[in-house]
Amino acid sequence: MTSLAPDGPPRDRYTGLIDRYRDRLPLQRDTAAISLGEGDTPLIPLSNIPIVRDRDVSLYAKYEGLNPTASFKDRGMTVAVTKAIEDGSRAVICASTGNTSASAAAYAARAGMAAFVLIPEGKIALGKLAQAMMHGALVIQIKGNFDAGMALVKKIADEAPVTLVNSVNPYRIQGQKTAAFEIIEQLGGVPDFHCLPVGNAGNITAHWIGYCEYSSAAGDHTTAACAFCQGNCALLARKVVDHRPKMVGYQATGAAPFLRGELLDHPETIATAIRIGRPQSWEQAWSASRESHGWFDELTDDEILAAQKLLARSEGIFCEPASAISVAGALRDIEKGTIPPGSRVVCTLTGHGLKDPDTAIGQSTAPTTVEAEMAAVQRVILENMK
Ligand code: F0G
Repeated sequence: MTSLAPDGPPRDRYTGLIDRYRDRLPLQRDTAAISLGEGDTPLIPLSNIPIVRDRDVSLYAKYEGLNPTASFKDRGMTVAVTKAIEDGSRAVICASTGNTSASAAAYAARAGMAAFVLIPEGKIALGKLAQAMMHGALVIQIKGNFDAGMALVKKIADEAPVTLVNSVNPYRIQGQKTAAFEIIEQLGGVPDFHCLPVGNAGNITAHWIGYCEYSSAAGDHTTAACAFCQGNCALLARKVVDHRPKMVGYQATGAAPFLRGELLDHPETIATAIRIGRPQSWEQAWSASRESHGWFDELTDDEILAAQKLLARSEGIFCEPASAISVAGALRDIEKGTIPPGSRVVCTLTGHGLKDPDTAIGQSTAPTTVEAEMAAVQRVILENMK
């Protein structure tokens, strides 16, 4: 039977993360959500990779590529754009390595706002460019990298009536923290390690805020009117939220300011989503790492691509290169023992593999072309079965 939440939609129909977690978000109660049904993404056990089985690790992928515009950015964008409308704004602006621009363009379209996006010329994946263009954003390619674009949009937003929707906008971070809430609810507890790619460093910051909020709510939890469980307080009552995960951030070797300990001017990596040298949430990400007793590490482009292929071929999950770094790093740390046997580990897969068809096709075997005849098709099948 369908039960009605006090002033919301039927509980059994998911309608987006603002409806689900409004009490935990800095929005007014009556503001209509600008939503595409984002959030509620699957947490998928990765059980086909031998090292995971050998070490008795429970490894999960939080597949954020299944959000409406196919990346985790939608979590932050629904809140940032809803807030922008609440504040009377008519336009949004961002710099982007691709996914933020796709998400901003989509949510602005839905809200009836203008969107201006600055992208590094020639350095964003094709699918992301297609999204921003299709949703009607004004796409401005700059002859410079993401960090240069970031400096420009911050100045513009200071001077013009446009809302900046990069993750320096605190409402973006607030939306993205809900991924941590979902993970706790899906796991029925807290992971021991949370592994994720780090670029501009907003997402690691947001997850840490989410885990901290959930665990402090668990500490204070005395009432059945809890925003997290909406009356179903079994999870918190069972005190399963008894710790916080170690946050592990991975960067590409050519774009690893957290490993170098300083900001970089010329980041380079095939994982264009995280081709960033000057992360805006630099201090916050260091705090998340320190407070959680986590760490940062780096992986080469070859290691990133190998993990992307491994996930696609052995688990059936297609993520973009930047996302695969979380699994590449986790597997290496499981092998080294830095992530010990018996651990429960969540990796965020930040974006869908279809975003970047060029990189996928570039590392796969080209299709075989034959005549449309039975003999030719049979021959090629038999050759490949040997
Ligand atoms: N993974 C993907 C697929 C991304 O698009 C990004 C960031 C990250 C990881 C890193 O997350 O910046 O919060 O540390 N993309 C931004 C963009 C910069 O413009 O789309 P972060």
